[in-house]
Amino acid sequence: MKHTLRLLASGALAVASAFAAHAEDFRLGLITPPPHIWTKAAEAFGADLAEASGGAHSVSVFPARQLGNEAEMLQQLQTGALDMAFMTVAEVSNRAPDFGAFYAPFLANDIGHAARIIQSDYARGMLDQLPGKVGVVGLGYGMAGLRQIVSRGDVSSAGDLAGKKLRITPFEPILDFYSALGAAPTPMPLPAVYEALANGQVDAIDMDAELIWVLKYYEHADTIIESNHMMFPMVGLVSAKVWAGLSEDDRASISELMNKHLASVVGSYVEKDPVWLGQVKDTGKTYTQVDPAFFGDAVDAWNAKWSEKSTALEGLRAVAADTAE
Ligand code: BEZ
Repeated sequence: MKHTLRLLASGALAVASAFAAHAEDFRLGLITPPPHIWTKAAEAFGADLAEASGGAHSVSVFPARQLGNEAEMLQQLQTGALDMAFMTVAEVSNRAPDFGAFYAPFLANDIGHAARIIQSDYARGMLDQLPGKVGVVGLGYGMAGLRQIVSRGDVSSAGDLAGKKLRITPFEPILDFYSALGAAPTPMPLPAVYEALANGQVDAIDMDAELIWVLKYYEHADTIIESNHMMFPMVGLVSAKVWAGLSEDDRASISELMNKHLASVVGSYVEKDPVWLGQVKDTGKTYTQVDPAFFGDAVDAWNAKWSEKSTALEGLRAVAADTAE
């Protein structure tokens, strides 16, 4: 009897330690603040993964740039110091310029169209280059709302933005766009933007409706220009080093659950982007709706430049044409 108990105990120990050897607490970093849709989705993904793995895996989410800015987090993913991230495609496009094509001005006609472009097979296929070029595995896309302009002063034409310090997300496609417009694009990561607008360090910002409304950026502005000039994709990343050490089962489950939550991010913006814009409009601030003509030659200038820089521009335009309603 004693012998049988000893055998059972050692068997249970072996099973437990096999589990422990594969158990992981994954670290997932992102720059958005805790109430942001991306952060909530990362937390929901972690809860789902913990449940699906019977508690063997968990995900610790580090929002608001706790682990560094996106460039730093990308480096950490490359070395395996960070396991996962929900990251702007903007940052990825600094290393893999093909992704700059997503920022073709007015590629998407509206937020629903942006979702269809981002969820196309062509866009998904673009992720295949990431392990070789950047050292990360791209599991799928999320996004934020379309881009708008928020200004401290009156803006009735693009000429009013000439020479103005206009905050941009730090990446090349948007720098090229505002340079072509004649503004003074000022790269600044998201967590620094609220203060910079509030204290007049910048005259205007390029931003999406969620942050303009939910984080109340509009309070420090006089004019909101609804231009919908660019889409703003996000990508769910896993370190290629970490990915290489995962079992096929773990990979399948992480991929399925992360994609589930990325898709829900996309769905949230499709639903809420127009609602937030309506709420901003109702604040009584000067609210202008503009079309591509507002930007004059800047759209053509951008297209000419980026047809040289990205091999994906034509492909994404074809997707955009096929998915327009
Ligand atoms: C931005 O840089 O404007 C931004 C970054 C992440 C999410 C949304 C907006």
